[in-house]
Amino acid sequence: MIDHRTLRVALLGAGSVGSQVARLLIERADELEERTGARLELAGIAVRDVDAPRDVALPRELFTTEAHELIVGSDIVIELMGGIEPARTLILDALRSGADVVTGNKALLATHGAEIFDVADQVGASVSYEAAVAAAIPIIRPLKDSLAGDRVDRIFGIVNGTTNYILDRMDKEGAAFDAVLTDAQRLGYAEADPTADVEGHDAAQKAAILASLAFHTNVPLEAVHCEGITGVDADMIENARGAGFVIKLLATCERLPAEGDEPEAISVRVYPALVSREHPLASVHGGNNAVYVEAEAAGPLMFYGAGAGGVQTASAILGDVVSAARRHIAGGVGVGESARGDQPVAPIGRITTRYQITLEVTDEHGVLQTVAGLLAEGGVSVATIEQTLSHDADGASRARLVIGTHRAREQALSDAVARLDASDVVERVVSVLRVEGD
Ligand code: HSE
Repeated sequence: MIDHRTLRVALLGAGSVGSQVARLLIERADELEERTGARLELAGIAVRDVDAPRDVALPRELFTTEAHELIVGSDIVIELMGGIEPARTLILDALRSGADVVTGNKALLATHGAEIFDVADQVGASVSYEAAVAAAIPIIRPLKDSLAGDRVDRIFGIVNGTTNYILDRMDKEGAAFDAVLTDAQRLGYAEADPTADVEGHDAAQKAAILASLAFHTNVPLEAVHCEGITGVDADMIENARGAGFVIKLLATCERLPAEGDEPEAISVRVYPALVSREHPLASVHGGNNAVYVEAEAAGPLMFYGAGAGGVQTASAILGDVVSAARRHIAGGVGVGESARGDQPVAPIGRITTRYQITLEVTDEHGVLQTVAGLLAEGGVSVATIEQTLSHDADGASRARLVIGTHRAREQALSDAVARLDASDVVERVVSVLRVEGD
């Protein structure tokens, strides 16, 4: 018989994170009981295939394929199946049946978060998701609770370990993207299908979650501007290095002040950006993650650590389970989600940053003046310019310009780049990168 101090925990999914969560719930049962005041009883683990190989040996009798049956009567449901369905339906059913939910499912939260939080509010249950962004790094609770009385102005972070690993090796070794990606797949850093990581989709989901929390606004995934790292080549990395930068895939969530007839808005975006080698984010190496938060009263804060991994992510899940268990024992549902900020999300054209533009131009009299003139036409002002000369096999002289701009509006910059591209003196726009972090 279940006594009143026992909480029934249902686990959905037993992949690399789920199996570690199950192991820790079993191995640390006594410790968790001391911390929560409740015996956390792992009632079962719902999986597609009971006999599939697992990272951790777990009692076979815990496994079931009947997820719906498992969640009925559970106090806490941990969803680690991933994907949208059946995870969404199971979470909604769990909430409606009175359970608190803990999940690491960023794809689901970034697309159906509003619906899930609404149902949780209606029934007075909680949904916790510390593991959904940057795995072991505590960032959800700091934004939701610790900074709830402050005003967050900007978040920018490295929230995808795979792309950081690839860019870091390209930076250190001068290697090509494809070669590093293949190696990363061989070493298990990158998935066999790396699309979600290298195209920035994983980071965009995390950005949508962070922005929604930071700005108290429901930010749908479609509102996140997303560019991946597949276009980053060794040349761009080298140019960045020459100018004192490193290229990082950044997720940026920023408050844009009202300007003219444009209201205050927020911008949420993911792209490979230049970061000064002096900035703390430049020293985030390998598969690590770091999130830099600038809040009005708190000033800059940086959260750093492992952004992936089964046992590391399990740490974040267990933290949420302990917190849900305490709520069960002490009563109340803690702080819920809030979308009262209701901020509009601005198009990418409205952001303002510095840029580095690399061009191949003809080596002729007056070219620099023409290029500077085409930039100035749209109000883009040149801060630095560096020219290198080379010769083709046929002896023709060619020049490469690396131009650093002052801060400019993205729309003005992209119009100016279009003018450069169409100009007779520009043979090729090699790259355009935004500078972030200053
Ligand atoms: N694939 C992600 C990364 C980990 O490379 O950071 C899970 O979000």
